Amino acid sequence: MQLTGGLGPALTKSALRGKPLDSLAATIMQGRPGTPMPGWKGMISEADARWITEQLLTGFPQE
Ligand code: HEM
Repeated sequence: MQLTGGLGPALTKSALRGKPLDSLAATIMQGRPGTPMPGWKGMISEADARWITEQLLTGFPQE
């Protein structure tokens, strides 16, 4: 709820700084095999994943 991580890593603007949009969006779509991060491609489109990533990189929900 705070995007500060727990089972997964923090997804705050400062934690994601410098990470490429493309690779973060790919993580959302495909997940990270061998970790608890599931892929979401059955539920959302590539454009949705990029949109979510853009929101996180610009500091959603604080900014
Ligand atoms: C709205 C749903 C979710 C989104 C948008 C999301 C997004 C992300 C992103 C962008 C990363 C990469 C972070 C980075 O490289 O710094 C990540 C990693 C990760 N996520 Fe998620 N996540 C979601 C749900 C979940 C759930 C439900 C779990 C587990 C219950 C989870 C577990 C993890 C873990 C363990 C990693 C790190 C994987 C590694 O070690 O490389 N995530 N997530």
